[in-house]
Amino acid sequence: MDYNPLSPESRANPYPGYTQLRSEAPVYELEAFGVFALSRHEDILHALKHPEIYSSSGMRAMMTGQTGMMGSSGDPGRMGSVTEANSLISSDSEIHERLRAVVNRGFTPRRIAELEPRIRKIAEEAIDSVAVKGEMDLVTDLAIPVPVTVIADILGVPRERLRDFKRWSDAIIASSTGVAQDDNAEAHLAAREEFLDFFEEAISARREKPGEDLISTLVRAEKGEGTLSAGEVLSFTVLLLVAGNETTTNLIGNTLLALTDHPDQLEKVCAEPALIPNLVEEALRYDSPVQGIFRQTACETEIRGVKIPEGKLVMLLLGSANRDESWLPGAGEFDITRDLKGHIGFGFGTHFCLGASLARLEAKIALETLFSRCANLRRTTDTTEWIDSLILRGPKSLPLRFDAQ
Ligand code: HEM
Repeated sequence: MDYNPLSPESRANPYPGYTQLRSEAPVYELEAFGVFALSRHEDILHALKHPEIYSSSGMRAMMTGQTGMMGSSGDPGRMGSVTEANSLISSDSEIHERLRAVVNRGFTPRRIAELEPRIRKIAEEAIDSVAVKGEMDLVTDLAIPVPVTVIADILGVPRERLRDFKRWSDAIIASSTGVAQDDNAEAHLAAREEFLDFFEEAISARREKPGEDLISTLVRAEKGEGTLSAGEVLSFTVLLLVAGNETTTNLIGNTLLALTDHPDQLEKVCAEPALIPNLVEEALRYDSPVQGIFRQTACETEIRGVKIPEGKLVMLLLGSANRDESWLPGAGEFDITRDLKGHIGFGFGTHFCLGASLARLEAKIALETLFSRCANLRRTTDTTEWIDSLILRGPKSLPLRFDAQ
């Protein structure tokens, strides 16, 4: 078979390609890039359980555009040296454990629960601004503002810098997950430099006078309670933007796409909002916001009779694993009432998503607010333009009409 994750057909709808991969070539070499793709749930789980074979250094290659599969974003500027610092998502064993122990403190269940009233207020305000019109773009009016504002709050970014923060965040994301050549390379470089200026200053201000935000928690660790270098603090703030923003936006967008494609399910959840947490899990599985992650083989290995040499990049197609019928019968159907266990939309094992509870809470509150204030939700167009990314999946925009209530 001939599989190309970058073809317009795969980008618009990757699922038929995944089905074919799982049955005909579960370990598929993308020869043009020297990258291997795994597509079965069982194999991907195996890889995630064996970091000594499948190293997370593959994530560094992904985030710095070294896979050869994504366009170059030009001069990395100072960001180049930030991504050289140890990053949680691309490190293994002891280094990963040390970094994870520090950042876990910022994401305890208590800390996340404390954010609830704030998230609710952000979602309410977002709906307030569109309610009278009876129409909105779900992506720009709700799915983007919620996670961006929450992460800005977590990092202690003042309100008046929110617009800048969003611009910086877009620039960083464009240069780490984009597919196409970056047409705005210069503007993005300038925005990334502004981001670094802002956070370098914020980090030194928190060193002088720590507060309650996450930067202060990280800086305290830098001072000796834990062991973070200044570069690692900066690298973590970048990671939060890349890992925590657009992913959650896409989850909210994909959920509404799936619901408007399945009006019976939309009706069910509007009648019974207690189903929302289940809906969120099913949406994470059915149309995963993170379709793939990368690993790099630390030694030669063999899987399903295919030899993968040492040092090769391996793409783990989470979006395919979550649709694998041999793991979950009926995986191709969208069913918000199913008893769902074991989807890997947030990954699995030591690198399991740090922000999973936050993302679940944000999506739950955004959807509760939407359903309680907007009845009879319907799409105004059947065509969907997808964001420009090899690994993230979500609609660029999603115009909806509704009856305000
Ligand atoms: C629906 C939204 C989200 C999805 C689908 C998602 C998905 C994932 C996945 C698949 C991984 C595993 C990466 C790997 O194994 O290489 C991951 C890791 C991570 N996520 Fe998320 N994520 C989401 C939201 C968030 C949020 C809101 C944050 C933070 C505010 C966040 C922060 C992180 C971090 C820091 C890691 C690295 C953890 C580690 O390496 O130990 N994510 N995420």
